[in-house]
Amino acid sequence: MDSQPLVTDAPSPYHRRRLLLAERMRQAGGGVALIPTAPEMARNRDTQFPYRADSYFQYLTGFSEPEAALLLVAGRDAAESRSILFCREKNAEREIWDGFRYGPDGARARFAFEAAHVIAEFDAKLAELIADQPALWFSIGHDAAWDARVAAALNKVRGESRSGKRAPAAIRDVRAELDAMRLVKDGQELEIMRRASRISAGAHIRAMRFTTPGRYEYEVEAELLHEFRRHGCEFPAYTPIVAGGANACVLHYVGNDQVLRDGDLLLIDAGGELGGYASDITRTFPVGGRFSGPQADVYDLVLDAQSAAIAAVRPGANFADPHDAALKVLAQGMIDMKLLAGSLDAVLESESYKRFYMHRTSHWLGKDVHDAGEYKQGEHWAPLAPEMVLTIEPGCYVRPAADVPEAFWNIGVRIEDDAVVTAGGCEIITAEAPRKIADIEALMRDARGG
Ligand code: GLY
Ligand code: MN
Ligand code: MN
Repeated sequence: MDSQPLVTDAPSPYHRRRLLLAERMRQAGGGVALIPTAPEMARNRDTQFPYRADSYFQYLTGFSEPEAALLLVAGRDAAESRSILFCREKNAEREIWDGFRYGPDGARARFAFEAAHVIAEFDAKLAELIADQPALWFSIGHDAAWDARVAAALNKVRGESRSGKRAPAAIRDVRAELDAMRLVKDGQELEIMRRASRISAGAHIRAMRFTTPGRYEYEVEAELLHEFRRHGCEFPAYTPIVAGGANACVLHYVGNDQVLRDGDLLLIDAGGELGGYASDITRTFPVGGRFSGPQADVYDLVLDAQSAAIAAVRPGANFADPHDAALKVLAQGMIDMKLLAGSLDAVLESESYKRFYMHRTSHWLGKDVHDAGEYKQGEHWAPLAPEMVLTIEPGCYVRPAADVPEAFWNIGVRIEDDAVVTAGGCEIITAEAPRKIADIEALMRDARGG
């Protein structure tokens, strides 16, 4: 079932989101919002990087062609709000080379916009539509070319003041409104994220089964990519980290070109992107199929920290609670394993644990792997609420040093899962990838024929 193509352009959720954005804009005084999609990027000469639409634009439109923008006029009420798409023209010649394009008429009918025009008409229409509006909702500073187009449209309207036109008095950050919306996922988003998670968990299982001493990190990476793609993921959600031995202590290791050695651990941080939504999973397992004593000690410590963090995810808790829960377990374990000296309070207070655990435990997850959404509201960490999605990813990374017990040198462990906040706690949507030592070892034993 996971290999069926995902249909993500069903119009209804996008239409609903546009109405919701218009309502939020009205509550803040109204106006017109501009949400452009991402530009195409040249890789070299006439070769492009694989195209991916802008997350905000895709969230509101479901439209994934390049050279497009959405103008949303809030109006006085829902009946008056209007969504206007600008997109590439139909072009029989270009479609022979590059494939199907909707064109304005096709896009309007398919995606339920109130109007659609060719992108060549955008600049004139922008100036027309923002005249006499209270605010232009546009996030300045993300793309200089769009900033310049907005400035030109504003100046065009300002130049027409003698004919009674007024430019918007306010420029407001439309992404801030959309960030708040994107933080809480709707049913369609959760359905896609569960499916992306299942595929990605399957990729980690495939990697565990495939891994054996003598294989190269990139061979394992190829297994992950194969599994993502054969189930319909458009891309990996980020560059996979496939880090054998000491490489696991390099947090953003993406070289993935070293040979895997018996006796080492392999840390894999990889997730597929499906229908524009990311999965983000890390598993750490032994190249040879059996954890050594010190590896198992570090691994079980991280797993205990993850369990404590997961238990802290529930409505009413705040974003930092899972991190604090994980820290307490990790810090005590580091003391017990003689990685650190001092009392638990002293280690937490001085943050000496950062030598072995230097990143945070969670981030929002959604269309972007580090997804939209504020982490603080004023001085306070954001409260967790149902249908928010966050990662739970504690780790422990031990670099060699004279004051560190040698048995732990070069052991790097991270365990990362994706949690949907529910009314009673959370749902771990990535749980199909095994986490317990016994389960991992059994799976690897089974793959080797017992
Ligand atoms: N894979 C990116 C992260 O775990 O944050
Ligand atoms: Mn993550
Ligand atoms: Mn990750």
